Formats: sequence, C-alpha cells, structure tokens
Amino acid sequence: MTATTLALIGVFVANRIARPMRRLAGAAEGLGRGQSIEALPETGPDDIRRTTEAFNRMQARLTRFVEDRTRMLAAISHDLRTPLTSLRLRAEFVTDADAQQRMMATIDEIQTMTEAALAFAREESVTEATRAVNLTALIESLCDDLADLGQKVRFLDSPKINYRCRPDGLRRAARNLIENALRYGGEARVQLDEKPSMVQIVIEDSGPGIAEEDFERVFEPFFRLESSRNRETGGVGLGLSIARATVRHHGGDITLSRMPRGLKATIALPRSHRGL
Ligand SMILES: Nc1ncnc2c1ncn2[C@@H]1O[C@H](COP(=O)(O)OP(=O)(O)O)[C@@H](O)[C@H]1O
Ligand SMILES: [Mg+2]
Repeated sequence: MTATTLALIGVFVANRIARPMRRLAGAAEGLGRGQSIEALPETGPDDIRRTTEAFNRMQARLTRFVEDRTRMLAAISHDLRTPLTSLRLRAEFVTDADAQQRMMATIDEIQTMTEAALAFAREESVTEATRAVNLTALIESLCDDLADLGQKVRFLDSPKINYRCRPDGLRRAARNLIENALRYGGEARVQLDEKPSMVQIVIEDSGPGIAEEDFERVFEPFFRLESSRNRETGGVGLGLSIARATVRHHGGDITLSRMPRGLKATIALPRSHRGL
C-alpha cells in the first residue's frame, strides 16, 4: 500500500470519529445554553453510537422533567383558585368588620401570588425557539419603549453584539431588572459589554441598593424586602426569580453588587465557542 492510500484511510477513519464527536460537543453545549436540540443521528462506531444514544436519552428525559415541573406548577396554581373563591364567600359572612377586612386583604394577597405563579407557568410552557439576534438593538428598543412611557431610563453607548438566545425571554428578564431599578432606585442606566467568554447586560440605579446579606434571598420567589412590602405599587416578589430562571436557562446567571450609591445588576450570558 502506498503512503497516499494509508493517509486516505487515516483521514476516513478520523472523520468517522471526529464528525459525530464534533456534533455531540456542539449539541451538549447548545443544551447547556437552553437551546432546543434535535435528537442526534445514532450512527458511527460502537462507542460513539452508544455515547450518542445516551446523550439523546438524557436530553429527552431532561426536557420531559422540566415540562412536568412546569405543568405541575400550573396545575397547583390553577387548582388553588377554587378554595380561594370559597374562602372569599365564607369571609362575606364574618360579622366583625375589621376581621373581615383583614381576611379579605390576605385572600387578595394569596390570589395575586397564585395568579402570578400561574402566569409564569403558562409563559414557561410555551418554549420559545432560540435564534440569533442583535442583542444590543433588542435591549436598546426595550429602553426606548420604557423611556417613551416617561420612565427615567438611559441606554449607554454599547458595542453591537449578536447573540443566539430566546429573545422574548431575555427581553422580559432585562425588563424585570430595569423596572426594579426604576421602582426602587428612581432611574436606570443600561449598558452592554462583551468579554471573550461572555456577554453582559449591566443595569445600574442610584437608589438605596440591597444589603449584601440579602443578595441571595431577593431571588427567592415571593421574597420582598421589608421596605418594599408596604408599597402601593410593586410586584409580588417573583420578578427576580423569574429573570434568574430565564438567564440560567441560557447557561448564564444574574449577579448583584453594591455601588457607592445604588445597585448594579449584571446579566452574564456565555459565549459559545463558535462566537454566537
Ligand atoms: N434595584 C433595587 N434596589 C433596591 N431593592 C431592590 C432592587 N431590585 C429589587 N429589590 C428588592 O428585591 C425584592 C425582590 O424583587 P422582585 O423579585 O423583582 O420582586 P418585586 O419587584 O415584585 O417586589 C424587591 O421587593 C425589593 O425589595
Ligand atoms: Mg420586580
């Protein structure tokens, strides 16, 4: 056999292994970043085929697991409506006006929380497809929309960043953080930044900020700081938990830090090796 034939066989064998391995690596990374992945073709040499089969099974189970959880959350929130309504009817018969008013207020609060959980579960159950977008334009238009509503949002000069993501989900997450900055910090400054391994969306305000020991707790569902509880306006304490869930679904995270005055919230999203 000539050297050329040997080399050709070498290339053929390497390709038979290298191609499915590359495909597997790409799919594993995409899965980690929350992308919807098609099942991979289960071909090639034995070891590789078995690895691919295992990957396909894992990804199918993972998807089913997440769907089941979301469906359960939706069912629980939905089914809580009936007992809440009957509680409200019973409260109508309480003769002590003061006690009745307090009962009604509590029922209202539970109802708001239940509806918020249900809305979240419904949104989650519609899996948005991932696509490449101009992230800078997406966030800038969000800021413009809020500014048009008379909000004090400033979008600071940022590099143009193309990014593969679920744009509606990310837009909602950024909106939650910007609305917090506005509500609790009076204004919002928004800027994007690009690092070799990640993309950042930074939101700053000049309000009272959050004490470091509460940085984790504010991400818990329904948690609100004491100072925000009695506010007329405001959500139910789901904003940060939903935003973090969305960003983590993309393989990223949201972190908080204190500034001399105000809070800095950073959405960090991983860059894939292919640059998107
Ligand atoms: N930018 C901010 N400055 C000060 N406190 C904040 C800020 N963002 C969030 N918080 C605190 O974290 C809590 C949780 O936020 P979030 O999950 O968005 O719930 P919500 O806004 O519905 O109360 C808020 O109630 C508020 O006490
Ligand atoms: Mg909020």
